[in-house]
Amino acid sequence: MTEKKLEQVAGNGLINRRHLLGMGLTGMGAVAGSRVLAADGSGFEIPQWSRQPGPGPSAYGAPSSHAIALQRSSGFTNPLYPGGGASRTPLQHLQGTITPNSLHFERHHAGIPDIDPAGHRLVINGLVRQPLAFSYEDLLKYPMQSHVYFLECSGNSGALLRGAQGGDVQTLHGLVSCAEWTGIQLSTLLDEAGVSDEARWVAAVGADAASMGRSLPLEKAMDDVLVALFQNGEPVRPEQGYPMRLFCPGWEGNISVKWLTQLKLTRAPAQFRDETSKYTDTLGDRRSLQFTFPMDVKSLITSPSGEMSLPGAGLYKLTGIAWSGAGSIARVEVSADGGRSWADALLESEARDKALTRFSIPWQWDGGNAVLQSRATDSAGSVQPTRDTVLTARGTLANYHNPCIQSWGVNSTGEVSNVYV
Ligand code: CO
Repeated sequence: MTEKKLEQVAGNGLINRRHLLGMGLTGMGAVAGSRVLAADGSGFEIPQWSRQPGPGPSAYGAPSSHAIALQRSSGFTNPLYPGGGASRTPLQHLQGTITPNSLHFERHHAGIPDIDPAGHRLVINGLVRQPLAFSYEDLLKYPMQSHVYFLECSGNSGALLRGAQGGDVQTLHGLVSCAEWTGIQLSTLLDEAGVSDEARWVAAVGADAASMGRSLPLEKAMDDVLVALFQNGEPVRPEQGYPMRLFCPGWEGNISVKWLTQLKLTRAPAQFRDETSKYTDTLGDRRSLQFTFPMDVKSLITSPSGEMSLPGAGLYKLTGIAWSGAGSIARVEVSADGGRSWADALLESEARDKALTRFSIPWQWDGGNAVLQSRATDSAGSVQPTRDTVLTARGTLANYHNPCIQSWGVNSTGEVSNVYV
């Protein structure tokens, strides 16, 4: 077998992304244990599962029992805060860009209400010509749109602001997911109610026990916001807001109010708890920024990532996800030497607005120390910042909106861990 030559494009073993396309990686004996069969086919046995029929169809499918058991990881529970808490998406095990509904991250402020849609109403009132109340059945008759969008909690990656040691990508960054959301354009429903000239904000309230509320600027409400009823083709799950949720593309997850029951048009923000004492950004001088909605351009290498172990020196495929609240992903660069040199990764998915993009690049690990990083650029030209840049600009009191470059250290035994460079 002839060894093809790998074209190095940046320091410490990064290989031209074109090797993932036409140039190919096979024949290098390093990607996996793929072997060439003997010409006479000998050595190939018909496996047991091919010798008899298996079970028939099922009512609601389940993953293979041989596949890794994918699970959300649950975070803190506080007895003083019943039903509060979060669960995180296992980013290290997923590929592509869509998060299965069972694995979409959760964040609840008073648990999941058990809503019978027959008794649920969505009310639009306040500064409108005609207050309206919609039933679930009413809303199903409206024209709907479907869009693939990411959703990210603004507290995602906040542990890095506080200097987290260790942790896997799920623990550190698992409050981001991506789904196809189907629903009614909010502007359609607001137009039907007739928004008064003096209205500037929409106070959105959920039907959970916390009456979780957020104030949404009218300009965004009339732009791309949905009242979402379906997620990846099936009714929105209870933990995602069944029977309906607000969905504000590209903005911090908390404002996409779940179990949506009221939209009140107002002149000024309502100053709900979750936009005064929480979901504000405290600066170094202890002033806090309010209504910081858009999520920044960001990317992560998801494999290899924290707490994984590389079996030995050789060729690996680095892969990860990138997204931006301002638009699509134009470019992802990867470094294997802690940011001294960079190479362009291959973008493996469509460049969709406000959705996850998958990237990959080959890497020849020589068995020595390495620091793996990714850096995304979005369609608005914004470039993902380093952690130092974020900390310098924002101080060390902030909890939300951390888009910083993630550094994964690889040591000579192949162990991967969160590091700061
Ligand atoms: Co914010």
